[in-house]
Amino acid sequence: RCQMKLVSATANPHKYKEMKEILSGKINLLPRPDEIPEIVEDASDLKGNALLKAQGIMKATGLPAIADDTGLEVDALNGAPGVHSARYAGPDANGGENIEKLLNELASVPMNERGARFRTIIVILFPDRSIITAEGIVSGKIALTPKGKLGFGYDSVFLPEDVPGKTFGELTNSEKNRISHRGKALQGIIGKL
Ligand code: IMP
Repeated sequence: RCQMKLVSATANPHKYKEMKEILSGKINLLPRPDEIPEIVEDASDLKGNALLKAQGIMKATGLPAIADDTGLEVDALNGAPGVHSARYAGPDANGGENIEKLLNELASVPMNERGARFRTIIVILFPDRSIITAEGIVSGKIALTPKGKLGFGYDSVFLPEDVPGKTFGELTNSEKNRISHRGKALQGIIGKL
């Protein structure tokens, strides 16, 4: 039970590193094998997409798989980009393009109306088809301009409410992990194992 082996479904090296650090000493997290083709994430919610990723990896490896799916929910955009966060600015959009679109959409929105949250759903799928899931949420605001070069995705424009004045892009991995959506979801799922 300690040092259980889980194969990570993420192809994102930043996410893998975060997850590896949070799980260290508890779970032996194996990287996603390179030869597994890309998994289409076309479910209509975060849990559906996490499950699609976990299924793809569990079937390919025969080992328990862990997958997360994350969305950024912005109040002034009625919860968008949400499940569409990865492709917000287009099918092949990168982090910079997604941030640019987000800041444009919010150009006329004042600081006190820029509330947002990251929501992560984590799924562990076992070869016997049993499933464990957990959710993690971090609340904050969308900054007026990007700040900080650490992290990935939307990190440079997210101001978590627990660390006043700093974006996720200005936090080290361990500082971010302590308060982040992914950190909380992983703590939750560890508790259920
Ligand atoms: P996915 O969970 O990999 O599908 O991520 C959805 C989108 O949210 C992508 O654009 C990611 O770059 C972004 N994202 C996921 N996790 C984080 C995070 O911890 N910080 C900032 N952006 C994130």
